[in-house]
Amino acid sequence: MRIADLPIPEEVKQTILATGITDLYPPQEEAIKAGALQGKNLILASPTASGKTLIAELCALKHILEKNGKTLYLTPLRALANEKYQEFQKYTKINKPNGKPIQIGITTGDYDSSNPWLERYDIIITTNEKADSLLRHRTKWMNETTLVIADEVHLLNDSERGPTLEVVLARLMQINPNAQLLALSATVKNAQEAAEWLKADSITTEWRPVTLREGVLNQTEIQFKDGGAQKIEKHTANPAINLALHTIRTGGQALIFAATRKSSVSLASKASTETDKLLSKPLKRSLQRLSEEILTAGERTRISEHLASLIQKGTAFHHAGLGGTHRRLIEKAFRDGKIKALTATPTLAFGVNLPARTVVIHDYRRYEPGYGWYPIAVLEYKQMAGRAGRPKYDKVGEAILIAKTEDEREYLMDSYVLAEPERIWSKLAVERILRGHVLATIASDFAHTEQGIYEFFGKTFYAYQYDPKAIKSVIVRILKFLYDEKMIKVNGENVTATRFGRRVSELYIDPVSGVILRDALQKPPSILTDLSYFQMIAHTPDIFPKLRPFSTELDELALFADQHRTEWIFAVPEEWEDHIAYEEFLAEAKTAWVLHSWIEETTEDNMIEQFRVQPGDLYRVIESARWLLYASHELARLLGAPKGTLSNLDVLVERIEKGVKAEILPLVRLESIGRVRARVLYNAGLKTLDDLKKAPLEQLTGLPLIGPKVAKRIKDQVGGFIKIEELKKLKKGDEWEQRALTEY
Ligand SMILES: Nc1ncnc2c1ncn2[C@@H]1O[C@H](COP(=O)(O)OP(=O)(O)OP(=O)(O)O)[C@@H](O)[C@H]1O
Ligand SMILES: [Mg+2]
Repeated sequence: MRIADLPIPEEVKQTILATGITDLYPPQEEAIKAGALQGKNLILASPTASGKTLIAELCALKHILEKNGKTLYLTPLRALANEKYQEFQKYTKINKPNGKPIQIGITTGDYDSSNPWLERYDIIITTNEKADSLLRHRTKWMNETTLVIADEVHLLNDSERGPTLEVVLARLMQINPNAQLLALSATVKNAQEAAEWLKADSITTEWRPVTLREGVLNQTEIQFKDGGAQKIEKHTANPAINLALHTIRTGGQALIFAATRKSSVSLASKASTETDKLLSKPLKRSLQRLSEEILTAGERTRISEHLASLIQKGTAFHHAGLGGTHRRLIEKAFRDGKIKALTATPTLAFGVNLPARTVVIHDYRRYEPGYGWYPIAVLEYKQMAGRAGRPKYDKVGEAILIAKTEDEREYLMDSYVLAEPERIWSKLAVERILRGHVLATIASDFAHTEQGIYEFFGKTFYAYQYDPKAIKSVIVRILKFLYDEKMIKVNGENVTATRFGRRVSELYIDPVSGVILRDALQKPPSILTDLSYFQMIAHTPDIFPKLRPFSTELDELALFADQHRTEWIFAVPEEWEDHIAYEEFLAEAKTAWVLHSWIEETTEDNMIEQFRVQPGDLYRVIESARWLLYASHELARLLGAPKGTLSNLDVLVERIEKGVKAEILPLVRLESIGRVRARVLYNAGLKTLDDLKKAPLEQLTGLPLIGPKVAKRIKDQVGGFIKIEELKKLKKGDEWEQRALTEY
């Protein structure tokens, strides 16, 4: 089927043809034949890179241009939302029947807003969590949605993120029963079942644009699923690395999945000495520049230094301990073919689109603290394997598992290569997960009676797969909790939320967190410090990740806890009476200490040194802390807390966001000025905006990390006057100038 023959507006055809796509892939053709463009609800279950997005795009444009409709595009990750946002930009050149151009909007942050400004957008891209929060705010434009696209719906199976997706889909079907639903999924065994739940037809295919050869490597020999075999040269003691080198020597790139961050780093280190030998001169120069870019993007740490040194040799590692900027630089360099071997933890398999000719699954097991090692699901294996083969570059992609013995080789062949992916199962009926959704159902007026609540949850995938009675018993317990904690009121048949309950729901925090914050704010200790607030939020189930101490830290942490005994909002439990509570306390104390060090301007590298907290984890805990402090502020206001508490929390929200002491807040509010530069200015006596306005340009550029570009940006913002000649005289920027446009 040709693009030119599709029943879609001419401008859309031209836009797609301009990207080089002329014919539909077979699964796309099936989707069109199944009525995707006639408003049919569909689940498309097909392998990675089989072109599901294009069908979503065609449907969205059909709705916008022919039905005056609006599309909501749901993704499980912010990174994916950004990727789609970029991809959809090409359609903003097309005008709607009213003469105005198509507008693409994206919203992923701030869970306490209904974003009314999004009303005028035609395609709104968002994450499942943000969509959930928008529904809680009863965002008006959501009712006007005519097409819902849900990407990666096999995530219904994920115990953390699946339930939110499930509730969002059930809710959207409730408020827009006539909207079209298009669900995109990896191949799973029971796509048909999910389709029935969504009142959709399912299309399942195994077609891929690049042939996939799956196999298992034992020592130096790969055995393929198709019966073929191949010998690999032995360059190092590690078979996975030998395999990667084999690929690189023949012009490809290798992606190695490792079980842990540590193993991803050590594999990358070992591989790098070998990949180094295979690089051309121009590539080496380009990698040298990339390596410098890594060092100048954000604060320099031992991790960024290590990464930069490996990148020079054509290898990199990618895991959740890296900050987002570094991850994105690596992803881009890999896509551009500059990085030859990339080691990664499995999170990458679910993230952005990063195909490689060879995917190596170094370890089929995962480690879960407190649980031990366990073999991964076939579905997860298939997701990783599916990354093999770059469309347009490779004719064949290979996905290879690593076995250590002949027995293991057979086991891997049977349990993964020849196995079918599992069914997906709803993970909704867990009290911890469900309670926020039950409260939201009441608080946002989606149900007014107990019966109405059961009816809503009776429409979820869980109720479809299991017995609705099973979820009912959990809801009964939750309702009792919400009632006892005064989040809901009962009046005869009617169930409504209290002001407190409604606010907790809008703030998108766990009702248990709401109770913890309320109680703490109402009975503060006599000495209330920043540390007290940090412990308060670290005590809630919403802090993420909770930073658990390593055994070597325990003594120091116990000492720290004792020194600050009077400041803790939740008293220190007796170690001998309740060991588990004591361990939880230590994790809270560590989390609080890390947050405190951050706002006291401890460098990222010192955080790694002192707490073994890597930047990625640090940013995540900062983000969740910022949100919980904001929620505390909002609840404190609702509870009529004293002005002092409100202003303390206000300042803390800003300090945690920027990682600074209060004295430099006015400086970090300037664009291009992050905590490092603000400290430089302050220590040079430039403490206020007025100081900056009066300071001669040379004084600014004479400071470390501040070149002419940054100096000019400062002056532009504070209203200082600069002569053109003065600017011209300044020497060319140094390394730090690359950071001119980034906060540093
Ligand atoms: N008909 C086509 N002809 C050529 N290339 C295509 C066609 N359809 C899609 N592509 C290209 O294939 C690539 C992969 O498509 P897409 O991202 O939609 O995959 P997907 O099915 O969503 O996979 P995943 O499960 O990884 O999300 C894109 O670069 C896209 O431009
Ligand atoms: Mg996709």
